[in-house]
Amino acid sequence: MKKITIAIDGYSSTGKSTVAKQLAKALGYVYVDSGAMYRAVTLYAMQQNIISKDNFDVNRLVSELDIVKISFKYNEQLGFAEVYLNGTNVENDIRTLEVSQNVSQVAEISEVRRMLVLQQQQMGKEKGVVMDGRDIGTVVFPDAELKFFMTASAETRAQRRYKELLERHEDVSYEDVLKNVESRDLIDSTREDSPLMKAKDALEIDNSNLSLAAQFEKIYVLAQNAIK
Ligand code: CDP
Ligand code: CDP
Repeated sequence: MKKITIAIDGYSSTGKSTVAKQLAKALGYVYVDSGAMYRAVTLYAMQQNIISKDNFDVNRLVSELDIVKISFKYNEQLGFAEVYLNGTNVENDIRTLEVSQNVSQVAEISEVRRMLVLQQQQMGKEKGVVMDGRDIGTVVFPDAELKFFMTASAETRAQRRYKELLERHEDVSYEDVLKNVESRDLIDSTREDSPLMKAKDALEIDNSNLSLAAQFEKIYVLAQNAIK
């Protein structure tokens, strides 16, 4: 069977990573969570006090980028690759609301994007990859054979993310999660460099009323057809 590249873009908490992981597993493909890379750079900036609630030293982050090493290591038990920052597993640390509140500002910086996009293209150069993010079908792999663009209402997405954060015992309010979802949507889709947008040839899937199983089934059938 031929190997293809599958790009899954869309708004926050639309179920991109869940379906991308399921799809990669079903097809025997590699899954790459590009958002985890932006989150890991953001965590670095937070740890080094480069970014905080009311301060962001963009020049310092750019000047330190060559010492920020992002890598992935497959976790057999979890069935996907976890993200590492300078050799430390940060898979959990990058999922906090605080990182979510800073990440879109970091992702606006062209130097950050250039570094991560190159790495993403390298990871997908053999094809047989499912990558999710914001600019995968438009910038990272414009020639991907199969592209999805996932949407759902902001309230549905915030409810999903809120539930997830509560399960991780984070002390957050639904209002703050909704605010974060909406503000990231805005920054991500209006930034100058590689804004979030639907690629011309992407298939749009609104999953506001789709269960995880229904969403997977729909996407899996389309993927099987594309591989034939
Ligand atoms: O999981 P969620 O949808 O909340 O976000 P994510 O995929 O982990 O991405 C976090 C943030 O990284 C996004 O809000 C974007 O600002 C940025 N990002 C990006 O700019 N380009 C990508 N390819 C992936 C993520
Ligand atoms: O990667 P992205 O931020 O787009 O979303 P995700 O992390 O895959 O999904 C966010 C949350 O929404 C997870 O807890 C999913 O289980 C849930 N979800 C859902 O309940 N129904 C869907 N159709 C899609 C996602």
